[in-house]
Amino acid sequence: MLTLGIETSCDETAVALVDDGRLVGEKLATQIDVHALFGGVVPEIASREHLRVLPRLFKELMAETGTSPKDIDTIAVARGPGLLGSLLVGVSFAKGLCLSTNASLVGVNHLWAHLLAPGLAEDLKFPALGLLVSGGHTHTYLIKSPVEFELLGRTLDDAAGEAFDKVAKLMNFPYPGGRYIDDLSQEAEPDTKLFPRPYVKNPSLDFSFSGLKTAVSLYVQAHPELVFPEMADAAAIAALSGEKREALCRVCASFNWSVTETLKIKVERALDQVGPVKSLIVAGGVAANTRLRETMARLAKKKGVHVVLPELSLCTDNGAMIAYAGALFAQAGYSHELDLEAIPRGRIVPLDWTCKAKNIAVE
Ligand code: KG4
Ligand code: ZN
Repeated sequence: MLTLGIETSCDETAVALVDDGRLVGEKLATQIDVHALFGGVVPEIASREHLRVLPRLFKELMAETGTSPKDIDTIAVARGPGLLGSLLVGVSFAKGLCLSTNASLVGVNHLWAHLLAPGLAEDLKFPALGLLVSGGHTHTYLIKSPVEFELLGRTLDDAAGEAFDKVAKLMNFPYPGGRYIDDLSQEAEPDTKLFPRPYVKNPSLDFSFSGLKTAVSLYVQAHPELVFPEMADAAAIAALSGEKREALCRVCASFNWSVTETLKIKVERALDQVGPVKSLIVAGGVAANTRLRETMARLAKKKGVHVVLPELSLCTDNGAMIAYAGALFAQAGYSHELDLEAIPRGRIVPLDWTCKAKNIAVE
């Protein structure tokens, strides 16, 4: 079964073809440079960029894989959560393609797709505990099967990636700053007393990162020498040396430690609560973080579960994960009609399948 995946939920435009669980080809255009000028994603610009780029990417994918649109069995599209204007571009494109071919339509939950993506590289074992850490979301799920997700915990304010990006911005790192914090962190030992591990002294599985961001902000205000005078680029960060570099690396390592330990405490608690699972899947852009990967691997070993850490290209937004997740849902009998809605961030993605499934928990 040939499935096309379309991803336009934020600042990456991406398409991919998956055939029976195997990636056939993919195209991706990132808008990072466009938004970096503003220090964050500008929704209207993102929508316009998707509109401009998506048809070209689709044509290139068809040409490079020798595929005709008529060969496609299923069109899977990220239908939320995400930026509404951006999602509408992908969803409208998918509907147009469905009208001009005989393909069926599947709207895909972008967050679930992140967690299923590592299935492109290895067989996933269920039930699994899923930790989704991205720029917009921090969620834990009990994943009973590839099409059954139960939300366990979520952030009450900032997402983990958002905390990385906001802290990076405090020091005038380029956007998105998570990977610069990761890089610098590796040059220093964390000071585990410097910043709190937020929202861990409670029985809940939810997260809250805004207090940690404030703690770093107060520290940086008291140490203005840590801030680049203007927005640094990668070269300026690489050129930094001496005591300033050491101090900056220590702050990054300490913040990175606080986030990672907080995630570990909550994931360990979730593992204890849900009963035996076969694997721990870590996904989303922040799953690229070196310390987080090491920490989750250690935790999984301690708990006797298999850890699944997707390769870096599968961590951030891509079309392959949408195609792969869409194919799994299509195989299980799910599809959508052409009145499929796009769902903005903050709203629950409904289970409005044509073929209603039972016992699937909503987000
Ligand atoms: O999943 P993603 O591509 O976008 C969303 O769907 O939100 O994740 C992007 C996020 C950004 O916040 C970025 O700073 C963060 O992932 N990120 C990292 C690293 N690489 C990307 N955060 C920490 N360490 C990294 N190595
Ligand atoms: Zn994402």
